[in-house]
Amino acid sequence: MQKLTLNKAVFPVAGLGTRFLPATKAQPKEMLPVVDKPLIQYAVEEAYSAGIRNMIFVTGRSKRAIEDHFDTAYELESELEKSGKQALLALVRSIQPEDMNIAFVRQPRSMGLGHAVLCAEHLVGNEAFAVLLADDLMVGAQGGPSVLAQMAEQFRELGQSVLAVQEVPLEHTRRYGIAAGEMVNPRLMNIHNIVEKPAPEAAPSRMGVAGRYILTPAIFEHIRHQARGVGGEIQLTDGISSLLADERVYAFQYKGKRYDCGSKEGFLEATVELALQHPEVGTNFRHYLENLQLALISAA
Ligand code: G1P
Repeated sequence: MQKLTLNKAVFPVAGLGTRFLPATKAQPKEMLPVVDKPLIQYAVEEAYSAGIRNMIFVTGRSKRAIEDHFDTAYELESELEKSGKQALLALVRSIQPEDMNIAFVRQPRSMGLGHAVLCAEHLVGNEAFAVLLADDLMVGAQGGPSVLAQMAEQFRELGQSVLAVQEVPLEHTRRYGIAAGEMVNPRLMNIHNIVEKPAPEAAPSRMGVAGRYILTPAIFEHIRHQARGVGGEIQLTDGISSLLADERVYAFQYKGKRYDCGSKEGFLEATVELALQHPEVGTNFRHYLENLQLALISAA
């Protein structure tokens, strides 16, 4: 049985974001805002909502903006203070609550998600930890807990690794780690095998891994001995597949929605849907969409 504390989250943020060029030429893709908040902040807030207080970023070159975002901005804060903009000051300060610790470690070369996770090993130590891919913006069901908070609850019950999964169209299996196994209850599967980005005809199921993982520290040893997989990279999925020989791993169908903000379409969907729910702009934006005469805007 594993120790059931979950107090560390790893955010692999070293990727180049080529799918969003030119926007990501000089800024990290994780800093792209959905409405008014960068993607990485959504992920950090999700981890915080799951009770996690130690955030570990695996960064790379040209990712300084992420470090600055989670640091104190003295000039900005003193300007806001001087001009009496208390609400904005509180907003800026809320990005890094006082009980949240942040650490950065560099991934020197882009060698895959598994390798990125391994770069955080010395900071994680011998504890279970979460991995959050900020490209996947996850929103819990309305009024309910966040996706990672749901997973943390499962982890506390099971004491084993838990991966977030969703059913994906067969023609999309090449985009995901695909897990198969036996259902323990309608939302939980005991994984028997997992494959990174299989072709539809080779996919063992249609259960695609979304970018949220809670992993036991045994994973590090398995990643360390992992040969390069799909795309010549050290894949986290392959490490998890190897872990299955020693430990149980569960796939959890969360309540909520995933926006693939690594793609333009997913990013636009997130922007529209989160704007509609935004306390400041939601009502007017809904009005705007309702009156938008799509027919008058020519398609590409
Ligand atoms: C990564 C993982 C994949 C997972 C996906 C979720 O792929 O390798 O197993 O299903 O995230 O978004 P990427 O999207 O980074 O290519």
